[in-house]
Amino acid sequence: MPWTPPSLTTERLYLVSLNDLTQPEFVFENRPDDAKRLPGLPSNWTACLKEDRQPVGSAGYVRWDREENVGEIGFIMMHPYRNKGYMTEALKAILDFGFKGMGLVLIEAKTLPANVASVRVLEKIGMKKERRICGRLSSKGPLLDFDLFLIGR
Ligand SMILES: CC(C)(COP(=O)(O)OP(=O)(O)OC[C@H]1O[C@@H](n2cnc3c(N)ncnc32)[C@H](O)[C@@H]1OP(=O)(O)O)[C@@H](O)C(=O)NCCC(=O)NCCS
Repeated sequence: MPWTPPSLTTERLYLVSLNDLTQPEFVFENRPDDAKRLPGLPSNWTACLKEDRQPVGSAGYVRWDREENVGEIGFIMMHPYRNKGYMTEALKAILDFGFKGMGLVLIEAKTLPANVASVRVLEKIGMKKERRICGRLSSKGPLLDFDLFLIGR
């Protein structure tokens, strides 16, 4: 069953909900070539500016373990709109919805250690680096080192 969360609102953004079947494809330009295009990531919400409804990014839960009540966030912001605090603003609302609306007890994020903007955003929303892990971006992709960030309810 596709999951469609409610739309959310922040000070400067509308977070418009998407269901699992209508997720856009985004290009992660700072990832290795064979993992740049990830269909369906990230999921759930398109961030649109309140002032003109311009879509500027996407964020949401790329994994939801309903037995353990653990979620994992993914996020991307279009280039011209970066470094204006938009993703920090969006993710604060998405974490809040995760804890209160989805009943999560733990939210995770994985980032490449060299992705300084991503690491900074995770720190700004109160997530703490737990440990370094090794994994893949896609099932056939290369093994990469990631930093695992966590925040609990
Ligand atoms: C990560 C990303 C979503 C951040 O979105 P954003 O809206 O620009 O985030 P914010 O404006 O809320 O915060 C960005 C922070 O990173 C900092 N930053 C950005 N580039 C930086 C750099 N090269 N060196 C140091 N800090 C940097 C900004 O200064 C800002 O921190 P500050 O508020 O303390 O000044 C965006 O850069 C992006 O889409 N990147 C590509 C996709 C991606 O990597 N997604 C995450 C996968 S885990």
